[in-house]
Amino acid sequence: MNVIVFASRKGGSGKSTLAAHLAAQAHRPNRPCLLIDADPQGSLALWHKLRDSNEPPLKTATRSVNDLIAAAKREGYQWVFIDTPPNTSPVVEDAIRAATMVIIPARPGVFDVNSVQETIQCCRTARKPYAVVINGAPARRDDVESRIVALAREELGKFRAPVWTGQITNRADLVLALGHGEGAKEYSSEGRAASEISRLLAAIERSIKAIRGAATNNGTMHKQAA
Ligand SMILES: Nc1ncnc2c1ncn2[C@@H]1O[C@H](COP(=O)(O)OP(=O)(O)OP(=O)(O)O)[C@@H](O)[C@H]1O
Ligand SMILES: [Mg+2]
Repeated sequence: MNVIVFASRKGGSGKSTLAAHLAAQAHRPNRPCLLIDADPQGSLALWHKLRDSNEPPLKTATRSVNDLIAAAKREGYQWVFIDTPPNTSPVVEDAIRAATMVIIPARPGVFDVNSVQETIQCCRTARKPYAVVINGAPARRDDVESRIVALAREELGKFRAPVWTGQITNRADLVLALGHGEGAKEYSSEGRAASEISRLLAAIERSIKAIRGAATNNGTMHKQAA
């Protein structure tokens, strides 16, 4: 079972947004996923209430995620996506300790990039694979990424942080979909938002395979700049 934890002490970086969209995209009858909302703000739980179906199912956690993860394993879930609050509280550390891989979303601004360091340190202390995902980025133009994204990559490189080579662009579709309780693909299957979320999911899958020893580390995002 793969446990993907979304963590960043910076509020509004995109933890809940990525957790919702990725889980909606990853969940299939032959690949059951579970969502855990470990943030008392309850953003993910709110999105889940807006969905037409209960799929993927969602549980909430307050202090520890361990019991929920143990139950998910018994129940045959293949993926667990955990959204966490914007801090380094015990429940975040607990989730990171349980993670197969941690996703640290960061907007490409100087304050945002700087604030990933504490979460990176938590991952390093727990010896957990992680990758920073640049979220809310200006759109690429002629397939060239914006200057602020390039600068963010440079700064993150200084922390020796692995960073996904793609980006999640600032897109209204991502927000509108959440308002309907949908994932990007459910909202607009051919849309650019759905295609970026697919690419991120594929990158996570490649990393998970490498972490599990089923593939080489080449091209995996948790190792890129490590
Ligand atoms: N790529 C994006 N494009 C457009 N809007 C986005 C994007 N990512 C996030 N948002 C919006 O930014 C806001 C913050 O995102 P989100 O709630 O996912 O962050 P968070 O890290 O979970 O915040 P918190 O730390 O408060 O839990 C939300 O209104 C969300 O809809
Ligand atoms: Mg959130």
